Amino acid sequence: MEVAILGTGYVGSVTGACLAEKDHSTTLVDIEAWKVDLISRGKAPIEEEGLDSIIEETVRNGTLRATLDLGKAVSRAEVVLLCLPTPPHEDGSANLDFVFGAAKELGSLIRPETVVATRSTIPVGTTRKVGKILSEAAGFEVKVANNPEFLAEGTAVADTRKPSRIIIGTDFPEADQKLRVLYHSFVDESQRILTMDPLSSEMSKLFANGILASDITFSNIVAEICEQVGADFTRVREGAGFDPRIGKFTKAGPGYGGSCFPKDTRSLAAIAKEVSINSMLLDEITEVNSYMQHRIARKVKRAFEGETLVNKTIAVLGLSFKAGTDDIRESPAITLVNDLTNEGARVVAYDPKALEEEVRKKLEGNDLVDFAKNKYAAAEGADALVIMTEWGEFSTLDLNHLAQIMSSKTIIDARHMLKLGSVRGQGFYYDAVGRPLINERQA
Ligand code: UGA
Repeated sequence: MEVAILGTGYVGSVTGACLAEKDHSTTLVDIEAWKVDLISRGKAPIEEEGLDSIIEETVRNGTLRATLDLGKAVSRAEVVLLCLPTPPHEDGSANLDFVFGAAKELGSLIRPETVVATRSTIPVGTTRKVGKILSEAAGFEVKVANNPEFLAEGTAVADTRKPSRIIIGTDFPEADQKLRVLYHSFVDESQRILTMDPLSSEMSKLFANGILASDITFSNIVAEICEQVGADFTRVREGAGFDPRIGKFTKAGPGYGGSCFPKDTRSLAAIAKEVSINSMLLDEITEVNSYMQHRIARKVKRAFEGETLVNKTIAVLGLSFKAGTDDIRESPAITLVNDLTNEGARVVAYDPKALEEEVRKKLEGNDLVDFAKNKYAAAEGADALVIMTEWGEFSTLDLNHLAQIMSSKTIIDARHMLKLGSVRGQGFYYDAVGRPLINERQA
């Protein structure tokens, strides 16, 4: 099929590359020249496992291209996918200026048979609004659909190649047919392609992310209780997880981050308020998650018995919001760094992927932060070490070596990367989320 994709962020570039890999003639459109340029040279505009090689190959064999020229991209398109950013407003509602602006422009450029689908996460009702804007600009009724993406950063290529399900939310049978043909390249069994009205489709994406975010939040609350009563949440999770009704997505940690859960839970709460529904539980998920993010700095303070953190050096391992990505949007590690430096601590941070330049921008001139080249360089002379992202290399920290190079044998583990058995008996203060405290440190 001839496909045009507007927006080359996570959703657009991965969806486009994977469709091109299945021989759909795909054109990616962006307003930023450097992204178009990168893709045209066969390179990925974002850091994502496996994406570079698909883009390189599909650009080389001609199934994928990128352009700044919207008119050229959509003139022959059978399907146009809108993968545009929807950043949050102050009140949590999604800013749809990019989506509506693009629809206005697009309407006058497409043909009556072109199907336009919204793919980035949007509030309920947006697809029909997009349809109205498109149709007004086009002078005919444009066939619109909602086709939510369910890809997670770090596994985005695998999630797209083998999706758990495809949802097509549309009022137009022609749109359903075209999108089914398109996605049959990824999903053989037609029962995994669901067609519904666009409102239910938009809602199912927000519901999925809401459930997952509340699942993590509930786990974090129980993990904190475990710490107090001396239980180990990793075992508790295992015990509960044997019930097939209980999801596997329940790892306790420093609170969720990223570009999806924080935004989508706030967006769901904003929708509830708009339709005068009690949003207490939804608001509370965001509130508790913020508490969970700030809790890690309190753990650091507790390690020094409430002493001031002025003149203390804290090593922070991991800055991205999760492993497998360089993305630092709403990362709990950034919250921690700010909390620590607000208390006067000096931070030495290390992350295998997150870019120092991007982190510095986020920290807005915070001059108490330095960056180390590796995990041990960060730990050298540190009064405490905090593990914030579950990068594999942090599970192999050599405790003997740390004992030699750190000023104080103090570890805060927000991702339970170390095994309790390997920490016990080593003379460390070890405080992990969801686990009983080990305090063997000598004064
Ligand atoms: C999330 C969803 O998992 C995808 O299904 C969805 O398509 C995507 O949002 C989206 O809306 O586009 P993503 O934000 O990339 O994907 O990352 P996740 O792996 O879901 O992690 C989100 C946050 O939850 C991270 O901060 C992670 O550390 C945290 N998390 C995840 C936990 O604290 N515990 C867990 O068990 C899992």
